[in-house]
Amino acid sequence: MNSFSAVIIHWFRENGRDLPWRETKDPYAIWLSEIILQQTRIAQGWEYWERFMKTYPKVENLAAASEDDVLKLWQGLGYYSRARNLHAAARQIVVLGHFPDTLEGIKALKGVGDYTAAAIGSFAFDIPAAVVDGNVYRVLSRYFGIDTPINSTQGKKEFAALAQSLLPASSAQQLSDTALSPVAAYNQGMMDFGAIQCTPQSPKCLVCPLAETCEALRTGRVEELPVKNKTQ
Ligand code: ADE
Repeated sequence: MNSFSAVIIHWFRENGRDLPWRETKDPYAIWLSEIILQQTRIAQGWEYWERFMKTYPKVENLAAASEDDVLKLWQGLGYYSRARNLHAAARQIVVLGHFPDTLEGIKALKGVGDYTAAAIGSFAFDIPAAVVDGNVYRVLSRYFGIDTPINSTQGKKEFAALAQSLLPASSAQQLSDTALSPVAAYNQGMMDFGAIQCTPQSPKCLVCPLAETCEALRTGRVEELPVKNKTQ
């Protein structure tokens, strides 16, 4: 395993957040959490995830519900197209007969884009797909000292390729004290590392396990990275 991923996974084992949807391999439960977390903070989304899992423990239950009932349970979360897509996708899954287990199949679900597909695929099925979001852009741009704008076509390509190249091999030895595969632990680790350690403001560089080899820290550019184009 490359040393960057090894540090992220080790950090995650020590510092990762304990979240209920991380303790399951049930793709339905994981998918539900990812749709909720698309535009909602964990503190708020947690309650809703539990409420949905209780009301609709299986995808068949969600598919059989009326859209009105699903929207009512979603009330307070906002971005209601998520709830409509969730309901439509549940029906897609039931028609399919099983939760799709390929990246393409997962991406074909309503309301699922690249990020969500990589998250579900890697957590539920150990599919080697790197998640790339704002947290990942920030961590990678700083650690590798990359100043390509993250919202440019070139930047998106560059960071996606870099993130993918850093994924631990799925054959890498499984870590003994976590149920997560290396790919899942790396993706979850990147999410949490960006949210807790390598934060937009006042990142904790003094206690960072990557500090010795961080290019932004070495060149005094932590505050300047990532670069974002203003006009797009
Ligand atoms: N944001 C989106 N997906 C997440 C996850 N699985 N854990 C924490 N934050 C997230």
